[in-house]
Amino acid sequence: MQSLKAAILGMGMGVPQKVLTNFDLEKIVDTSDEWITERTGIKERRILEDGENITEYAIKAAKEALTSAKVSPEELGLIICATVTPQYIIPSMAVMVQDGIGAKNAGAFDLSATCSGFIYGLALAESFIKSKPETKVLVIGAEALSRKTNWQDRTICVLLGDGAGAAVVGKSTEPEKSGIMDFTLGADGSYWELLTLRGGGSCYPPFDERLPKDEYYIKMKGREVFKVATRMMEKLAVEILERNGFGPKDIDLLVPHQANLRIIEYLRERLGLPKEKVFVNINKYGNTSAASIPLALYEAEKEGKLKKGDLVLLVAFGGGFTYGSMLLRW
Ligand code: ACO
Repeated sequence: MQSLKAAILGMGMGVPQKVLTNFDLEKIVDTSDEWITERTGIKERRILEDGENITEYAIKAAKEALTSAKVSPEELGLIICATVTPQYIIPSMAVMVQDGIGAKNAGAFDLSATCSGFIYGLALAESFIKSKPETKVLVIGAEALSRKTNWQDRTICVLLGDGAGAAVVGKSTEPEKSGIMDFTLGADGSYWELLTLRGGGSCYPPFDERLPKDEYYIKMKGREVFKVATRMMEKLAVEILERNGFGPKDIDLLVPHQANLRIIEYLRERLGLPKEKVFVNINKYGNTSAASIPLALYEAEKEGKLKKGDLVLLVAFGGGFTYGSMLLRW
């Protein structure tokens, strides 16, 4: 029995007000509400207005998480911001949050691991708490994917959305009953060409004529991603459960990355879980990459689907590929 465990002490969220429905998209590209709903489960997504920045929503989520955890900004020793769409390259989003919430004693950095970023962040926070048990870590997943979306490309623009979720992680006061139990982090870079955003990287100077204009937006080979994702999600879930002596029936709530309802449904069926044990909010937000899991955890708790002591399984995969799973007691 472990005497020291890290646990999520409080959560917060922040999403733009502007809602973009499938019917709105029908007016922009050759698509339909029927196609999007059937193939992805998405009905609407949140999109930043012109002049807004995702950092303000990350700050909103962070403040709510701190209030909920009853932790002051000064108690934070580290801020990790998982994002592939920071407001700027320099400075990082994490330092802007650090300034925005007045976390005078915290180190801060951005973490780039696409849709698995929040699980990566939680795993790092857990390790940090184990070496400095009296400190607290703020983990944020925040994305402004709409700013890197080609609105002429129907294969991608119907999928993505903007938002931010945050968690304060600290020492569990009841390590036998609550806290992070185990995690897996992984990557397989051989799949990198399936999901890319090459423009803006250091390979080409800005506006380099050699790089086609659409490379300044997220590009994806959706069908291929789908195949790998379904395989990977199942493997991750089964392995972490077995390693900890559990079976699918022991899970109280599965919170998967919200990339496509069909991927989530495939996983649910393979694990033999009833619908009420799998949290889904992709219908409201689309795929928000690193923000997807914290937004789902936040709403699951608010809706009363997460209770103290529940066994929770998080599973995610994303461009790269990166992947991660985490088992915790809420
Ligand atoms: N509206 C209408 N038709 C469309 C649209 C659209 N928005 N997009 C594609 N189609 C058409 C295609 O052109 C194709 O037509 P064709 O049969 O005449 O050639 C047909 O629909 C089927 O296309 P597929 O690509 O085979 O559709 P699929 O069922 O695979 O669904 C989707 C596509 C939703 C992208 C799916 O493959 C998927 O979800 N993939 C995984 C995405 C994902 O999980 N990404 C993860 C990470 S994202 C990140 O990291 C930021």
